[in-house]
Amino acid sequence: MTEHIQYSPEKDALVLLDQRYLPTREEWFVCKTVSDICEALVVMVVRGAPAIGVTAAYGCYLAGREVVANLAPGADWKPVLAAKLEEIASARPTAVNLRWAVRLMQAEWARHPEFSLDELCVFWLAKAKVVHAEDIATCEAIGKAGADLLADGDTVMTHCNAGALATAGYGTALAPIRAAVEQGKKIQVIANETRPFLQGARLTAYELHKDGIPVKVACDNACALLMQRGLVQKVIVGADRIAANGDAANKIGTFGVALLAKEFGIPFYVAAPVSTIDPETADGSLIPIEDRTPREVTHVGTTQITPDGVGVFNFAFDVTPAKLIHGIITERGVLTAPYTEAIATLFK
Ligand code: MRU
Repeated sequence: MTEHIQYSPEKDALVLLDQRYLPTREEWFVCKTVSDICEALVVMVVRGAPAIGVTAAYGCYLAGREVVANLAPGADWKPVLAAKLEEIASARPTAVNLRWAVRLMQAEWARHPEFSLDELCVFWLAKAKVVHAEDIATCEAIGKAGADLLADGDTVMTHCNAGALATAGYGTALAPIRAAVEQGKKIQVIANETRPFLQGARLTAYELHKDGIPVKVACDNACALLMQRGLVQKVIVGADRIAANGDAANKIGTFGVALLAKEFGIPFYVAAPVSTIDPETADGSLIPIEDRTPREVTHVGTTQITPDGVGVFNFAFDVTPAKLIHGIITERGVLTAPYTEAIATLFK
């Protein structure tokens, strides 16, 4: 599945499969402006760290086009464009791929100070297409690196959606599963439903089912029982940001799954591209955790499920300490503890 993020030359727009409505409706969300891109990121039309990065790369190009269209004659376009890039970079705080993609585009701009705005736009669109294509190749490499960790007959638990929909295609956590299946192994998946946005129930189940990989959805609170009954052989999750010491931020609930995996002696892996590792963040306590709108918890669809006036928590991510992680599966191989050294070597 790669068609969920598309640049349309006819519309000169980024066209996104709207993940809010899956699996029941396939609707498309068209982004022509920075405000469209930021809305798509904030309300989670598109989500998942690498997919956010790809969207942001196209967003920088669209920012340039918007400035071209609206700039007063003779005005300096550079500060206006720089402000728009910062707007994109700050749409969501936890997934480092968002900032990574914007910084990449800024670095290209800095390397070509001679470019006119039109030239920069042409250059950025080409660069965004490269980021897009490379993300798929990166995910496939993650799959190759991680497939040998899975044995024929394994059931793998995953939390949230770190699949094709969360990337440009193929996925991160789902990549070793896909690669193992391509090797002929029989693998089954347990998708934790992932309250409140239900990425597991709606999205992981949708894409695996579509691709013929056996998947069952479990309520988040069934995790301990399923592990206790021996129904889970491995856990693989994605990440939104991995700190320099290997602590990994991922969807809320991941930390609990990791603690349970330790209790039951089940290997717990994180699969992520190197762009998700943030060597500037020393440890997990420094990773900003997104606090989202209460409405996602107080309502299911349009139905209110909590009493009026009762507060809720809606932290979107938690941080799994490195000591609970058996390996970090990247496109450059599987990192193992001690992670501080492994990550430092990677960035040398
Ligand atoms: O809030 P979301 O849906 O963007 O959160 C996504 C996750 O937590 C994913 O596991 C993570 O971004 C990795 S996606 C390959």
